[in-house]
Amino acid sequence: MARVYNFSAGPAVLPEEVLKEAADEMLDYKGSGQSVMEMSHRSKVYDAIIKEAEKDLRDLLNIPDNYKVLFLQGGASQFFAEVPMNLMKNKKAGYILTGQWAKKAFAEAKIYGEAVELASSADKTFSYIPDCSDLAITDDMDYVYICENNTIYGTKYKTLPNTKGKLLVSDVSSCFLSEPMDVTKYGVVYGGVQKNIGPAGVVIAIIREDLITDDVLEGTPTMLKWKTQSDNDSLYNTPPCYNIYICGKVFKWIKKMGGLSAMKEHNEKKAKILYDFLDESKMFKGTVRKEDRSLMNVPFVTDSEELNAKFIKEASEAGFVNLKGHRTVGGMRASIYNAMPIEGVEKLVEFMREFEKKNA
Ligand SMILES: Cc1ncc(COP(=O)(O)O)c(C=O)c1O
Repeated sequence: MARVYNFSAGPAVLPEEVLKEAADEMLDYKGSGQSVMEMSHRSKVYDAIIKEAEKDLRDLLNIPDNYKVLFLQGGASQFFAEVPMNLMKNKKAGYILTGQWAKKAFAEAKIYGEAVELASSADKTFSYIPDCSDLAITDDMDYVYICENNTIYGTKYKTLPNTKGKLLVSDVSSCFLSEPMDVTKYGVVYGGVQKNIGPAGVVIAIIREDLITDDVLEGTPTMLKWKTQSDNDSLYNTPPCYNIYICGKVFKWIKKMGGLSAMKEHNEKKAKILYDFLDESKMFKGTVRKEDRSLMNVPFVTDSEELNAKFIKEASEAGFVNLKGHRTVGGMRASIYNAMPIEGVEKLVEFMREFEKKNA
């Protein structure tokens, strides 16, 4: 069996240990005589799986009791609509535009109300996080929205915006559980799991209880009302059972690794290896302002399209796959989520060093 080093932005690498455990349990989950794929979501055995997953996530993030944890479907993209549907009481919200995903959420919100651009880094291809210390937030705004880690452009907020007392809603899809976070600073934190946590098909939303009400925009589908999901503990309808089970295993793996502080240390170590090399290389350059660099997604370029293409091809042949940058940025991007081992990054840098020597 030859496993590659997978630098995909998502769906992405999962801990090998988790995959092996799932393989072992494939035909017979803990003596139930069934795969988790086959069992009723109303069964006792599945109830224990989803409850334990929630408990482990609560432990990891230290989630206070007045926040609900929901396992939802529809991807982060559907949640772009759920946010205004559930939160726009005044039909007005502020959005900070730091990339493609924030822009998409902004466009979606405009369907439901007045979405105001508070700041943007579009002027420099989203290569930095704008100053968010004194934004033009007005009293009638229902919330302020950010995309905390920008998967495509490789930026991350190092300090949260000053929301002037307004609710903060954050898309953490590509930095979920990569480091500790203080949930109490947010009204809503959510993310698709297919980067750091599990197989595509689950969105985890952590929502302050008082924001979950029947007072939603007219026409909001039953399934997209957070109240429906919350009242039914994420089991209003059939959830993506197997995917939630894998998420649960990843939570246990993170706990075993030492929790989120240990994860942060591990991720900082990996990112440093790659960024240090990019800073010293004459051929490869990082594209992001240094202070805004993401620990998870590292975009980089050479000054030639041909060289980029040659690098991506040869890297892939050598077992470093999915390094092609997003089409809107070009060049390369290495996503180095929690499950990417340190040696994956070390070996990638070794390969880049050799490539540079050969092609100088
Ligand atoms: C930060 C961020 N938000 C949202 C999305 C969209 O996620 P989904 O495909 O689950 O709708 C992505 C996907 O890569 C993402 O990186």
